[in-house]
Amino acid sequence: MAKILVTGAAGFIGSHTVDHLLAAGHAVVGVDNFRTGRRENLAVALRAPAFSLHEFDVAQLDALDRLVAKERPAAIIHLAALVSVQESIADPELNFRLNVQATQFVAEAARRHGVARVVFASSAAIYGDTTDLPIRETAAKMPISPYGAAKLASEALLLGHGTAYGFTVRCQRYFNVFGPRQDPASPYTGVISIFERRYREGQAVTIFGDGGQTRDFIAVRDVARANVLAATHPGLAPGAANICTGRATSLLEIAAIFAQLRPGAPAPVLAPMRPGDIRHSLGARAVAAAELGFTAPTSVADGLAELVATSRT
Ligand SMILES: NC(=O)c1ccc[n+]([C@@H]2O[C@H](COP(=O)([O-])OP(=O)(O)OC[C@H]3O[C@@H](n4cnc5c(N)ncnc54)[C@H](O)[C@@H]3O)[C@@H](O)[C@H]2O)c1
Repeated sequence: MAKILVTGAAGFIGSHTVDHLLAAGHAVVGVDNFRTGRRENLAVALRAPAFSLHEFDVAQLDALDRLVAKERPAAIIHLAALVSVQESIADPELNFRLNVQATQFVAEAARRHGVARVVFASSAAIYGDTTDLPIRETAAKMPISPYGAAKLASEALLLGHGTAYGFTVRCQRYFNVFGPRQDPASPYTGVISIFERRYREGQAVTIFGDGGQTRDFIAVRDVARANVLAATHPGLAPGAANICTGRATSLLEIAAIFAQLRPGAPAPVLAPMRPGDIRHSLGARAVAAAELGFTAPTSVADGLAELVATSRT
């Protein structure tokens, strides 16, 4: 069993990744500064002797380096980031510090202390608003936000360092992740998290446009499993893969599933489409299947049922 360091461990995807690593018998060193993450997300992990949690900013010079020097993990899963496209547009300097500078510190720490593998939380945002679907990894990279640009720059930084200094880098291009622990209070959270809270509170959801817009929604439990595979699967070659389902689901379909799970909820309210909203997004999943042996078996209906079952009523 390996020792894995996870940045952003107290976040939505990070805490599920920690839980899956511990369940698979690995030792986990978590890092978070609680910028958007929460200690409650790690309630189960904090009881495990194989887990330790360190509170600091990964974009702060030398902080990560000292921890990696001490712990000597076999792999780093780098999830800590400024996660909002809107916030990256409002504060591009902060986006650079948290989403590019921090990645450089991860690459440096891996190089200096012989970390064999780095797994990076990339995003479908690197592709921009392409209409050529499903999006393959070879599609043009045309980010339309500082956030997407920083993810693309981070991929290049890590892959270049990995090749030059002999460690394996896996870039995980997540599509729309949903599930328990996604913060519905955040102004930047995903649509499913907002819908879940509105349905739970008996309020009507607002759909901008006709509800026919589609996304590739992937359950966080599947994303966590993909992270474990990328960090631990033997003999992986460096590269980048979409972490998606390859299935498109419309907002009307999401609302219909919620209506079944929460009978008596008011019907959605339709509002004018917002300028700049992307109509359809869908990932091609073949590369992750071939390289990681990864498929995303959880249907949106099953993922939503789990979300509703675990949320406060
Ligand atoms: N949720 C999605 O649909 C999605 C899609 C594509 C990519 N991603 C990427 O996945 C990763 C995890 O996202 P998430 O949805 O779990 O968000 P999240 O906000 O729940 O998790 C991010 C975590 O990183 C921590 N963090 C942020 N900056 C830090 C810093 N400088 N030092 C230490 N800790 C720091 C936060 O406190 C938080 O716990 C991010 O890199 C994000 O860009 C997420």
